[in-house]
Amino acid sequence: MIRSINHIGIAVKDLEESIELYRKIFQVEDIHRETVEDQKVEVASFLIGDVRLELTQATAEDSPIAKFISKRGEGIHHIAFESDSVNDDLERISAEGVKLIDEKAKLGAHNMLIAFLHPKSTGGVLTELCQSKN
Ligand code: CO
Repeated sequence: MIRSINHIGIAVKDLEESIELYRKIFQVEDIHRETVEDQKVEVASFLIGDVRLELTQATAEDSPIAKFISKRGEGIHHIAFESDSVNDDLERISAEGVKLIDEKAKLGAHNMLIAFLHPKSTGGVLTELCQSKN
């Protein structure tokens, strides 16, 4: 079951510049940095209340983030919803006829299980499901 918004992914060209910008706006000090090899991205994230903002920069030209920026420019990349079982929700949503990018959950930032639904099936909004791996 999907219960809440976990984070909003923002595609950026220059992580250091973006961190400075967001520091000015939100006055955040506690910024978590991480490289996710599988997605070929470097991430800087911080909490605003219960929702994390996840600034994401590509580390390779064939990274999904590099492709996104070359097509659409910097901006909101995806919205991530917290699920208590990503695989169960994928099965349910797929049975409703919604196209998936990931058939099964995979490992993402913050040691979470993640999977994406296809934006062609979700009105152009790239939608992520994520689940804490305790
Ligand atoms: Co995400």
